[in-house]
Amino acid sequence: MKENILNNYEQLCSVITDEIIEQIKYKPKSVITIAGGQTPTGVYKMLSERLISEQVDYSKITFVSLDEWVGLDINTNGSCIETLSSHLFNNLNLNEDQIVFFNGVATNLTAECNRIDNIIAKLGGIDFMVLGIGMNGHLGFNEPNIITENSSIVSLAEKTKEVMTKYFDKQIELTHGITLGYKQIMETNKIILMASGAKKSKIIEQTIKSEASYDIPSTILKKHSNCQLLIDKDAKEVEA
Ligand code: F6R
Repeated sequence: MKENILNNYEQLCSVITDEIIEQIKYKPKSVITIAGGQTPTGVYKMLSERLISEQVDYSKITFVSLDEWVGLDINTNGSCIETLSSHLFNNLNLNEDQIVFFNGVATNLTAECNRIDNIIAKLGGIDFMVLGIGMNGHLGFNEPNIITENSSIVSLAEKTKEVMTKYFDKQIELTHGITLGYKQIMETNKIILMASGAKKSKIIEQTIKSEASYDIPSTILKKHSNCQLLIDKDAKEVEA
C-alpha cells in the first residue's frame, strides 16, 4: 500500500478528486464507491463542483453504496444515503439507475444484500473506491475480526457505537450495519484509503506498522495491488 501525506485536508480532497475525475475520463462507464461519514465530505463538494465546472461527462457512471446503518434511510440526517445525497448526488443531474444504494430499512436484509451483489456483478465489479477508516480500523462496516465476503449484515463494534453519535442530530439506537464485504472491496480495481486529523493518527500508525489481519480491517488493504493510503499531515502525527 503506497502512502502519501498531503499538507492539509484541502489538498487531500483535491488529490482524490483529481483521481476520480481522471478515472471517469478514462472510463466513462466507471462504477464508483465513496464512503459516507465525515472524512470524504470535502471530496463530495469538490467532485460535484468540478464535474460541473469542467463539464465532465458523468452520465454513464454508477455510484455504488459502501454501507448503511440498519434501520436508517434517506429520511434520517446522517445516514449514509442522506449524507451522499445532500453533499453529492443532489448537486448532480443523475438518473435513478446511476445510484445503487443499500436500503437500510429493507424488511428482508438478506434479499437486500443479494440485490446489491447482483447489481455489482452485472456492472462488472467496482472500478474505483474511496474508503474512510474507523477508529478501530473498520472499512465500511467490516468491523474487527468479522470476515465477510459479499454484502453482509454486521453487528456494530462498541467503538463504532461510541463514535456514531457524531453523525446524528438526535439520539438513535443502532446495532447493525449493512456493508460491502471484503471480496467486493478487494476486487475493486483501484482503492484510496483516506484519513484526516490527529484523531486518526493512532489507527493510521497501527495500519502502517501491522501485518495484514482481520484484527485491524484496514491492514487487509495491504494485500491489494492498487491501493493508496492518502492522509493529511495531522493524521500522521501521533497524539501524545
Ligand atoms: C461510512 C463508512 C465508515 C467510515 C469510517 C470513518 O460510510 O464506511 O467506514 O468511513 O467510520 O468515518 P469518518 O469519516 O466519519 O471518520
